[in-house]
Amino acid sequence: MQIGTASATALVTAALRVAHQTYDDGRVFHDPFAEDMLGPEGAPLMMGLPIVPGYRMMRFLMAARSRYADDALAEAVARGCRQAVVLGAGLDTLSLRNPYRAAGLRIFEVDHPATQADKRRRLLRFGPRLPPNLSLVPAIFGKDDIAVALATAGWRANEPTFFQMLGVVVYLTAEIRQALFGFVADLPGSEIALDYSTPPESQLPEGRAVTEAQMVEAAKIDEPWLGLVTPEALARELTDLGLSDIEDLDLLQLRQRYLGETSAGTGDFGPHVLRARRPA
Ligand SMILES: C[S@@+](CC[C@H](N)C(=O)[O-])C[C@H]1O[C@@H](n2cnc3c(N)ncnc32)[C@H](O)[C@@H]1O
Repeated sequence: MQIGTASATALVTAALRVAHQTYDDGRVFHDPFAEDMLGPEGAPLMMGLPIVPGYRMMRFLMAARSRYADDALAEAVARGCRQAVVLGAGLDTLSLRNPYRAAGLRIFEVDHPATQADKRRRLLRFGPRLPPNLSLVPAIFGKDDIAVALATAGWRANEPTFFQMLGVVVYLTAEIRQALFGFVADLPGSEIALDYSTPPESQLPEGRAVTEAQMVEAAKIDEPWLGLVTPEALARELTDLGLSDIEDLDLLQLRQRYLGETSAGTGDFGPHVLRARRPA
């Protein structure tokens, strides 16, 4: 990411969610705020979307990973969790959609300061104040102390927290990723939902071509992919830290769950979603 500039990939992922609303009727992930969050400046981006590597697959994935996180959050709230931390929030609209506002769910969005400054301006399109129950926490993973930044914003370390981290793991080194997982693992009753991608060499040729093209594009805009990991290595990493109840779904399993597809195909296309918990 260029210093002082909002994340360009956050704009692309937001545009893909808008495309899902427009062309798929939001059937996997309904987001009534996606279009206004992207705003009029999104028009040229929307026109260019079909040249995004693996456009159709990415359109599904962006919707499916948000739906996956929403479903996990619903279960966390049902268990009594009242804090959600969105790591690398980009133009995510959970704070506007917050279905648990009346129940008292507080949302903390952590993001790169430049991306978050842009997000703040966008949020103010929806009203003169930020959404109730939202705190914006500017911080850089790998540089700032996330626990301190969150605590300063009113987050309570002694209460269970649901963490959402979508479209972020690929941009982090293994060391930074593990430090974040370690932070979550130290919080009893907490849970994390995230997505990640496997290394190209462990993917099917179709997935591999898309991943390699995405990596080239991401490097060009100074947001290189630094953290590809296999499901086995990631599960080991999380387990070693004390996280458990791990669920890991690949793209085909996501299609089965959210599109009802019954194809018996197997093989890795690259993207995965995952949930893990720190027992209370
Ligand atoms: C591809 S965008 C995904 C945004 C959003 N979660 C979504 O699904 O649309 C990646 C996000 O991670 C943030 N990010 C990446 N590296 C970061 C770092 N080291 N510290 C803080 N934020 C970071 C970017 O600012 C951006 O908002």
